Amino acid sequence: MKPGYLSSRCSRIGASEIRELLKLAERPDVISLAGGLPDPRLFPKEEMTEIAKRVLREVGEKALQYSPTKGTAVFLREAADFMERHGVRLSGEDDIIVTSGSQQALYLLGGVLIDEGDYVIVEKPTYPAALGAFKVHGARFLGVRMDDGGMDTHDLERVVKEAVNEGKRVKLIYTIPTGHNPYGTTMDNERRKHLLEVAEKYDLLVVEDDPYGLITFVEKEIDKLKSLDKSGRVIYVQSLSKILSPGMRLAWVAGPKDVIEHMALLKQYVDLHTSTLTQYIAAETLRSRVIERNLDRMRRTYKEKRDVMLETLEEEMPEGVEWTKPIGGFFVFVKLPEGIDTSKMLMKAVEKGVAYVPGSAFFYDRSGANTMRLSYSYPPAEMVREGVKRLTRVVRDELAGR
Ligand SMILES: Cc1ncc(COP(=O)(O)O)c(C=O)c1O
Repeated sequence: MKPGYLSSRCSRIGASEIRELLKLAERPDVISLAGGLPDPRLFPKEEMTEIAKRVLREVGEKALQYSPTKGTAVFLREAADFMERHGVRLSGEDDIIVTSGSQQALYLLGGVLIDEGDYVIVEKPTYPAALGAFKVHGARFLGVRMDDGGMDTHDLERVVKEAVNEGKRVKLIYTIPTGHNPYGTTMDNERRKHLLEVAEKYDLLVVEDDPYGLITFVEKEIDKLKSLDKSGRVIYVQSLSKILSPGMRLAWVAGPKDVIEHMALLKQYVDLHTSTLTQYIAAETLRSRVIERNLDRMRRTYKEKRDVMLETLEEEMPEGVEWTKPIGGFFVFVKLPEGIDTSKMLMKAVEKGVAYVPGSAFFYDRSGANTMRLSYSYPPAEMVREGVKRLTRVVRDELAGR
């Protein structure tokens, strides 16, 4: 190709390590603790077959047609009702937009909120595809420490204050408060309120990315940041990928009207609109409470696999290895002793039949070389156990060889 043909933006778009890894982990002899795929045994296939047939038969002429960029009225209504059943009320009926997965929501948010050189505050570590979606639009990052309770909001306050004093343009805080990817943690209400206080004090927007918000292993549903937000600064992103199906590519965003309107303008140039057919099918799925009826089973299944992962780590891992103890979501974050490089260790792990994601993929500054993310969501429980056992042998070899 002609030199200089590619835009300078291309230099900001790196290959996703996770995707490359998933290719490796596809070998049948490898147990993948890498990708955050939902357990396919939980897909409500029978109910959705009936719903898809009914939609095509009864409203096929609409469902197969072009539709509004913001979303079909029927989908947006059902999405708003669903959110309300789970604690989030829209401030106005226009304050919602459908997106093709939450990935598109993050990309559009980057497009409408970020100017070249603006700073986005992120948890350290955080979801790499969010970093990518913001970075394409010229974002720079500032990281906040995490501990067992999720984002350390005192560190958040320090980071924001310092940045503002240095004259940095800080725009927003991006957070995954429940079932964090990759850290596995869930913030309590005290921290959530403190986060909102900091956002208010420094007039920052907050993006609450919440794909795992309903996949929790505690008695009570966790309050969303959005439901605690009194000043209308939380932009709430709800994906259906983990609670229904990632193949549907459906999510929505609830937030301030002008942000939503501008997202719709930008979305026109990205894909005109999200698939009308999947919106109709999902609307009927939401209306007939398929997700809610499946939730108990979903929570039990993931909790059982989480238990197996934590038990096996406890039984097998040598001293000096630490990990988080999730009460929701799909992930456990593991810290190995300093000096071990999990990126280098990965090939050995794959040879021994297990895959994970090296932790550095989740740090915008590529730190965290001795960390890794393990996912318990996809393999059956006995494979989770066997995967962790294989991984332990690799870790022990690595420690012995130091
Ligand atoms: C925190 C977080 N945000 C966004 C996404 C993207 O999900 P979607 O399938 O809705 O694009 C994921 C998927 O793993 C995720 O973990």
